[in-house]
Amino acid sequence: MSLSGKGLLISIEGPDGAGKTTQARMLWEKFHSLGMEALVTREPGGTPIGEEVRKILLNPRFQEMTVPCEVFLYCAARVQLVKQVIQPSLEKGIVVISDRFIDSSIVYQGYAGGENLEMIRKLNLWATDALLPDQTFLLDLQLEKGLQRLQRKPAAEGCLGKDRIEQKNLDFHCRVRDGFLQLARREPERFVLIDAAKSPEEVHLSIWTEVKNMLRKRQFFR
Ligand code: TYD
Repeated sequence: MSLSGKGLLISIEGPDGAGKTTQARMLWEKFHSLGMEALVTREPGGTPIGEEVRKILLNPRFQEMTVPCEVFLYCAARVQLVKQVIQPSLEKGIVVISDRFIDSSIVYQGYAGGENLEMIRKLNLWATDALLPDQTFLLDLQLEKGLQRLQRKPAAEGCLGKDRIEQKNLDFHCRVRDGFLQLARREPERFVLIDAAKSPEEVHLSIWTEVKNMLRKRQFFR
């Protein structure tokens, strides 16, 4: 099996504690085991500039950060990632697996943070030359389960405990989950809803089954 033509952009989304990072790694390992070129990246981050912006965004010291400030910082990290890593990789036919993408801004800063959804979407589409994932996996999890998993997670980089976004209240995290579900309903052709309460292996299998179908449809498998 080998890749042909343009690459693919796959994003993995979901509330905090849904297991996105594990799934991004497992998906990368699957591509790798089949000899297909793939890379995993994360948001905010994925470039030296983006990783610095990530430190500002997640630093619990900056409780005064406004939501519009978050919108611009997430967007700044994203556009750098798109121009420096994602677009060049897609042009080479590489599969890019992104741990979060534009939908996280629409949900966290829009649905949960209260900023204008259309404005966030437009700003990001302008900044990224309208790049959207070919497929988005939404790892959906009941609020309590996600928060339980977060308790077991090691402290965020540079923080003593939870990062600034993870520290937000229950109501915020509830709006995050609802926001993702609403986005998935609005774009059923791009989103695939995955039950993240299952074991990591079962979740991976569900994701891989969908990816395989997409690769076949797009004639990625020769
Ligand atoms: P994430 O990398 O998922 O956190 P971790 O690696 O600690 O699990 O994302 C960091 C946080 O940033 C997460 O709480 C979601 C938030 N976020 C936004 O609020 N807007 C965005 O556009 C993105 C990409 C992330």
